[in-house]
Amino acid sequence: MEEWDEYYHSMHGAYNEAMHVYVESGLAFWSAQDSSKNKPCSIFEMGFGTGLNALMTLEYAHLHNLDIVYNTIEAFPLQYREIQELDFDSFFKLENSKNYLRELHLSPWDQNIRLSPNFSFLKNKMLLKNFKPIISYDLIYYDAFGFRVQPEMWSLEALRPIVHALAPHGVFVTYSAKGSVRRSLEALGLKVFRIEGPPGKREMLRAIRA
Ligand SMILES: C[S@@+](CC[C@H](N)C(=O)[O-])C[C@H]1O[C@@H](n2cnc3c(N)ncnc32)[C@H](O)[C@@H]1O
Repeated sequence: MEEWDEYYHSMHGAYNEAMHVYVESGLAFWSAQDSSKNKPCSIFEMGFGTGLNALMTLEYAHLHNLDIVYNTIEAFPLQYREIQELDFDSFFKLENSKNYLRELHLSPWDQNIRLSPNFSFLKNKMLLKNFKPIISYDLIYYDAFGFRVQPEMWSLEALRPIVHALAPHGVFVTYSAKGSVRRSLEALGLKVFRIEGPPGKREMLRAIRA
């Protein structure tokens, strides 16, 4: 029971963090800007992982009538079986969420699909260092593992191609509040803000292409 409790709390924590960092501080912020009116939002996510960020974005798009073009990369995909074991059901916001999550995982790699009328989806199976953006993005979810585990993902060199792909008025969000990341984003020409972090974390970063 204790283990289950811990598991439930960490799942709940992950969900709340993703909701705060990517959906509320990223997508909701972007869509509240005047420049975004009546425009689809193109999103790049670094690290597809469990698909939770993608699903939450799809749900938000449905509930707020937004059009989303979503592109994510993942070098080490999880099996859908492993995702089912995580049991996300209590977080689902739409009747169809379970099916959407399944399709996010089981749809083919490197192929554009229209998952719902207002959500088109492309996942590329590749390492960040091999990713060459070909479109510009209105919103970037930078969700790499932490600096302590993968410092190379947070270097200016790793961030450069992604940041260069950010459209005018585009928004970059990450859970990290690290000084070196903030300075790299500034050096790459973004205006960087330290904003309130998710529950349990004091700060996070939001950066904007002015
Ligand atoms: C913090 S997790 C992402 C969580 C995810 N956004 C979600 O909603 O569950 C980071 C992800 O980056 C992937 N990853 C690690 N190194 C990578 C690399 N060099 N290129 C692409 N993906 C990488 C990991 O396999 C992991 O799934």
